[in-house]
Amino acid sequence: MSKTDKIPAHVAIIMDGNGRWAQARGLERHEGHQAGVSSLRNVIYRAARNEGVHYLTLYVFSTENWGRPREEVDMLMELLCRSIVNELDELLREQVKVVVVGDREGMSPTVVEHIDLIERETADCTNLTMQLCINYSARSELTRAARRLAAKAAAGELSPEAITPEAIADELYTRGVPDPDLIIRTGGEQRLSNFLLWQGAYSELWFTPTYWPDFSGDDFDAALAAFAGRHRRFGKVEEQE
Ligand code: IPE
Ligand code: IPE
Ligand code: MG
Repeated sequence: MSKTDKIPAHVAIIMDGNGRWAQARGLERHEGHQAGVSSLRNVIYRAARNEGVHYLTLYVFSTENWGRPREEVDMLMELLCRSIVNELDELLREQVKVVVVGDREGMSPTVVEHIDLIERETADCTNLTMQLCINYSARSELTRAARRLAAKAAAGELSPEAITPEAIADELYTRGVPDPDLIIRTGGEQRLSNFLLWQGAYSELWFTPTYWPDFSGDDFDAALAAFAGRHRRFGKVEEQE
């Protein structure tokens, strides 16, 4: 394995534990989400300054998260818009390109406006590509891909034999982005919660009990160090690598 293989080019993070962090302090859940924004900033800029990391994918809001109490959902959407406005200048300075992954149909016009703005403004940034998964679930993403392929087949543009893993990957939101090398989940749960089920087929997984608002740049480095010690075989045997 060469040295660059030891740094994950694509890191994805399930940022979990904001609510429990707040509860443990006698605070409201939304205060946990607010506190999570600082961790987010630390990690984004830590990743942007790491020459080996080129993609960062963050699970911000799942399709299932709409099922939370209305007040929490509204606060999360407000926090998202506010954070986009507050962070734009720094993202440009650090050359972070933002791409939003997920179904925009379920989002309010205000959220879509903010997302469009940040994508447009950061489109030419070159240090790091950050994918924000909002109103995202892997099953919805795969269902959408299946529908798009079926529509092409029904129109006579695609034969069933042409439906290959590459053709499916091309219909995902993450088209053109290499699969995540490392998926981090904070907050203690050891599950994927409908995140990157296709793309994560061979990702290394790293779990920490640390709640997201307590996750620091040093914790990020610890995850990268753990990754460097992993042996990825992709189904082969060690000598073939
Ligand atoms: C993750 O933290 C943030 C979102 C899902 C939006 P949670 O809000 O899930 O926090 P816990 O898991 O309840 O502690
Ligand atoms: C996953 O966390 C979604 C995000 C971090 C945005 P959840 O808190 O929604 O996942 P579950 O409910 O514990 O599986
Ligand atoms: Mg959670």
